[in-house]
Amino acid sequence: MTKLTRADLDALPSYVPGRSPADLARELGLPEAIKLASNEVSYGPLPGVVEAITEAASTVHRYPDMGVLALRTTLAERYGVDPDRVATGCGSVALCEHLARATCLPGDEIVYSWRSFEAYPIIVATTAATSVRVPNDASHGHDLDAMAAAITDRTRVVLVCNPNNPTGTSVRRAQLDRFLNAVPDDVLVVLDEAYREFVTDTEVPDGLRAYGDRPNVVVLRTLSKAWGLAGLRVGFLVAQPEVAAAVRKVVTPFSTSTTAQAAALAALQQAEEVRRRCALVVSERDRVTEAVRKLGVEVPDSQANFVWLPLGGQAAQFGAACEARGVIVRPFQGDGVRVTIGTPAENDAFLAAAEAALA
Ligand SMILES: Cc1ncc(COP(=O)(O)O)c(C=O)c1O
Repeated sequence: MTKLTRADLDALPSYVPGRSPADLARELGLPEAIKLASNEVSYGPLPGVVEAITEAASTVHRYPDMGVLALRTTLAERYGVDPDRVATGCGSVALCEHLARATCLPGDEIVYSWRSFEAYPIIVATTAATSVRVPNDASHGHDLDAMAAAITDRTRVVLVCNPNNPTGTSVRRAQLDRFLNAVPDDVLVVLDEAYREFVTDTEVPDGLRAYGDRPNVVVLRTLSKAWGLAGLRVGFLVAQPEVAAAVRKVVTPFSTSTTAQAAALAALQQAEEVRRRCALVVSERDRVTEAVRKLGVEVPDSQANFVWLPLGGQAAQFGAACEARGVIVRPFQGDGVRVTIGTPAENDAFLAAAEAALA
C-alpha cells in the first residue's frame, strides 16, 4: 500500500499507557486489579470536583472559554505571577509539545536526559526536531554538566525533568544554579515539575520560586498528579509573557475543556487536602523504598510519587510476575520498573507481589 504517513514515525516507539485494571482483573478472574503504572494518586477526585464537573456539564453544548481566563488568573494568584505569564494545555504533555512547536524548526535540537519521560522522544520527533539524549548518571539522575556540554548552536530547548520520571531522582539547587548559568540566553530551559508537590528534600528547588524570573526558564506543572485530575487533562506553564503568548498561539484551540476548567478551579481550592494526601504518599514512598531495598534492589531515593527498581534485563519478567498477582506496574525492559505509590493496601499488595517475583 502507498505510504500515506511519515516513514520516520515507524522507528518511533509508541507511548505505552498503563494497562487497564478492569481487563487484567477479568483475565485473572479477580474482583479487581491494582494499577500502579501511571503515577496517579489513588485517593479519588478532590472534594468539590465532582460537583463542579456536574454543574459545568449543563453548558457543554457551548465552547469553553478559549482564553481560560478564570483558571489562568487563579493559577497566577496562587503562584504569584501575572496571568499573561500562564498558559494552560491538555495536560502538561501537550504544553511540552506546544513549546517544541513554538521554538523549533526542522533540525533544531532538544537536549534531555535519558532515561526520562517517555513522551519526550515522541514530542521531539513529531516536531521534526532532533533529540540529543544525555545518558543518566550512575545514580539514575540527570548529568547536568554533560547536558550543558551537549548544547550546540542548533539547540533550542533543554528539558530538565525534576524529579525525573521514571527514576524519581532530583537535581538540587547548587547543580541547577550552575547549569542555568552555563546555558546560553537563547536556549529555553524547561523545568518539568509534574511531581513537584511530592518533593520533601529542601535542597530541591521550586523552579517557579527559584528561577521563575529568568527570561529563558519555563516551568511546567500539572493538575494530573497531586491534584487528582489525570482524566480531565489540565497542565499549565509559567514563562516570560512572550514565551507564554507564543505557546497560547500554537495551542490546539479550546483544548482546556469547560469541565476541565471548572474542575481545576474547584481542585485549586483544596490545597490543604492536597498537602494531606501528598504527606500520605510521601510516607508510603519511604516505606515502599525501604521494603524493596530489603529485597535486595537498589532503589534510588525518590522525590516523586513513584519508585524505580533498576532491574535491567529482569524488568519485563518482574512486571509480568506482578501482573500475574493482579498488580500492574510499568516495566521498561532492559532498564527498570517504575512503581507508583498507591494506598497502603495497594502498596502492601505490590510488596507481596515483588517479594514473590524476586524470590
Ligand atoms: C515528567 C512528566 N511530565 C509531564 C507529564 C504529563 O502529565 P499530564 O499531561 O497528565 O499533565 C508526565 C506524566 O506522566 C510526566 O511524568
